[in-house]
Amino acid sequence: MTHAFAKPLSALPSGGLRGRVAVPGDKSISHRSLMLGALAIGETRISGLLESADVMATAAAMRAFGAGVERGAGDAWRVRGLGTGGLLEPEGVIDFGNAGTGVRLAIGLAGAHPFATSFVGDASLSRRPMARVLDPLRDMGAEVVARSGDRLPLTIRGADPMAPIEYRVPVPSAQVKSAVLLAGLNIEGITTVIEPVATRDHTERMLKGFGADIATERAADGATIIRLVGRPELKPQAIIVPADPSSAAFLIVAGLLVEGSDVTVENVLLNPSRTGLIATLKEMGADLAVENERLSGGEAIGDVRVRASRLKGVSVPPERAPSMIDEYPVLAVAASFADGATVMHGLAELRVKESDRLAAMARGLEANGVACRESEASLVVEGGRVRGGATVATHLDHRIAMSFLVMGLAAERAVTVDDGAIISTSFPSFVEKLTDLGAGFADGAVAA
Ligand code: S3P
Repeated sequence: MTHAFAKPLSALPSGGLRGRVAVPGDKSISHRSLMLGALAIGETRISGLLESADVMATAAAMRAFGAGVERGAGDAWRVRGLGTGGLLEPEGVIDFGNAGTGVRLAIGLAGAHPFATSFVGDASLSRRPMARVLDPLRDMGAEVVARSGDRLPLTIRGADPMAPIEYRVPVPSAQVKSAVLLAGLNIEGITTVIEPVATRDHTERMLKGFGADIATERAADGATIIRLVGRPELKPQAIIVPADPSSAAFLIVAGLLVEGSDVTVENVLLNPSRTGLIATLKEMGADLAVENERLSGGEAIGDVRVRASRLKGVSVPPERAPSMIDEYPVLAVAASFADGATVMHGLAELRVKESDRLAAMARGLEANGVACRESEASLVVEGGRVRGGATVATHLDHRIAMSFLVMGLAAERAVTVDDGAIISTSFPSFVEKLTDLGAGFADGAVAA
């Protein structure tokens, strides 16, 4: 599961991108479909599951806990679940590779079972903070042995019984909220999560869909209060995973930046907790339209059409950050081509993603001739001419790799990333989809 071979990859200045394109399924919903399927009694069917390295790590983990997970004919996946509380002690160590969502949610799931589970990951995942999910699980009664700073590798063992808690999430994180709720599934009584800042709500929606007793209310101070009744009987579902807006983002921005482009990305998830980038690009003057908006499996989806546009710099409100947290790298690339400065605040969480994304973006922008200023939790990008021509360090971060490849399609000179292989974390068909639209790539480094 760990990432053995880095492969440099270059994006070449390209002519207009044109066409309709389907991007793979949403990563957040894909992880949750496998996990909730593993806890339902009976067979859950999933179509459109994202078949990327991260999600395959979750599939392997659910098998290690005793669930049946198989790919059937076409793109249909089948999960035979074990019932809430029915996970079995894995025989070996669970390797989550690069997958932060996978491991944090699985820590919640496994940590409420009275057996030991050991987790490892790649170099990126082993640097990321796990205290944010371990702390509430300790409050519920779990025991943890982890590397210093609560990093992977770690082993967690749930107590019998565990105590339901009321937990106020200290950082805006859907992963933390979800880990507490997934643990709460196997705890008698009501588990309460209070979110001062709302984050993506896929866990709540999907738990309801699987038949759990879960309710959300808004407190007077604007916080969201989520209450889950423990030990529900979850019923298997037929799930259609919509296209990932965080993957669509790269094609949308490429279509806006490459002159002469007209690109439509189909069936994109438009859950309001995920659409911050679309709102921001519109404010920047993007020619962007959402067409054919409809409901699928309880989620809003639609086709996003973009035509090449002259963008202008904007100030992005910090309260929008949770709804576009994974899109700042590609927004910074869009901002590089805009007239004037783009100001992004409230970005502290970007320092603990697959890489320190604030630093990785700032170094990559500078290397390619874009002026920017980075502070502890903000980034200001001075837009205008983008020279390109440099090699960017990706630090095992798929979104850093894809963002700078998008830059290379529209810059004066090609842009190289030191590792194109890491893209398979979330969007294995990224190069193929862009190539179909008319983009040019070359293996290896291209001399500037
Ligand atoms: C995710 C939540 C976000 C996001 C990640 C997916 C999820 O992480 O960055 O890609 O599926 O819950 P945080 O919860 O750490 O913000």
